[in-house]
Amino acid sequence: MFNFDFYNPTRIFFGKNRLENIDTSIPADARVLITFGGGSAKKSGLIDKVKTILGNRKVYEFGGIEPNPHYETLMKAVEIVRSENIDFIMAVGGGSVIDGTKFISLASHYKGDTTDLLKFGFMPIPLDVVSKVVPFGTIVTLPATGSEMNNGAVISYEHGKFPVMCELAFPKFSILDPTITFTLPKIQVANGVIDAFVHTAEQYITFPVDARVQDRMAEGILQTLIEFGATTVAEPENYDARANHVWSATMALNGIIAVGVPQDWATHMIGHELTALFGIDHGQTLAIVYPSVLEVQRKQKSAKLLQYAERVWNITNGSDDEKIDLAIKKTREFFESLGIKTRLSEYGVTADKIPAVIEQLKAHGLTALSETGDITLEVSQKILENAL
Ligand code: NZQ
Ligand code: ZN
Repeated sequence: MFNFDFYNPTRIFFGKNRLENIDTSIPADARVLITFGGGSAKKSGLIDKVKTILGNRKVYEFGGIEPNPHYETLMKAVEIVRSENIDFIMAVGGGSVIDGTKFISLASHYKGDTTDLLKFGFMPIPLDVVSKVVPFGTIVTLPATGSEMNNGAVISYEHGKFPVMCELAFPKFSILDPTITFTLPKIQVANGVIDAFVHTAEQYITFPVDARVQDRMAEGILQTLIEFGATTVAEPENYDARANHVWSATMALNGIIAVGVPQDWATHMIGHELTALFGIDHGQTLAIVYPSVLEVQRKQKSAKLLQYAERVWNITNGSDDEKIDLAIKKTREFFESLGIKTRLSEYGVTADKIPAVIEQLKAHGLTALSETGDITLEVSQKILENAL
């Protein structure tokens, strides 16, 4: 196991009827900005409930944070924070609203050019670059990204999606009420299951370092997602299935299974370019790229792929190669069973578009992806061709 530091200060309020905790978690004299997306939280009445709970506090609203939140949109909220002296932000939404809120929080007190904050990639923004942020809490409406309990965001700017990490970007608290997610369209539920699955797998199907707790936790999350995936999509109001979905998504990317182990993230980096170029949903890009990454990288990943086959899918018959083949096949079938297509061509992306993806990876410096850095641009091209 590698050395590691672990820090996670986010308080979680999980379960039914937890909204009231907003009141005790936000200072009574706070000037609050509620951030939300394209309208689902307004329509469901959630924003009104939050406003009622906030009571006499001075409350402002900022809606319209789009999926794959854009820098320009977020800067409009930064202007409100600055002009109205906002000192707490209440994010109500999925990963895009929460990520966008993290950026608003980081950018509002930043004195320089705020595009600077997009340049650090996976390196945490140093605390001498950003030392003061606007504290924020979240109400999760879509279980997928884990953003509600981590310090990362992904921000769209020009033709790219840029990771932003900072120790000051953890939410103060997050409300995880599975019933709030009941209004989700089926496709977003399926995207959410796949996102949580691939987050877990990118930290697990790498190479062995004898990290048994992390491995068994990852296997538990994957098996849980496999067990209730179809149910949480087909039965939107099945509380138990959705509760397990919500907590799996949070646990997949709150840092706990990441400690002391190698991490891949190639699928996410290639997937981000597919979203930026073709507008394919984040979860769908993962369903396209991940099976192909496993196929192309099967040699390098063989020890963990075998462990995955045996322990997650309970495959006991056949040679090692046959077990791995079957595990990869089952992974693809699982994504498809949720109603998500796994081939690039099924999203209208043909072979002639692949060079543009490679150009973008190159422009963003993503030329040595994977847990060992062995996914060069040539290998990324092979992965994309194999995904057609
Ligand atoms: O905008 P509204 O009207 O709210 O509609 C949203 C949006 O259209 C809708 N929705 C959300 N909750 C709903 C609902 N509709 C009905 N009922 C509800 N309860 O769902 C649509 C998608 O929302 P979005 O927030 O974009 O989805 P998701 O949570 O999948 O977030 C995706 C974003 O997160 C980033 C992705 O790159 C992408 O930008 N990621 C963030 C990560 C992180 N911070 O750790 C890691 C991830 O790997 C990912 O990259
Ligand atoms: Zn993801």
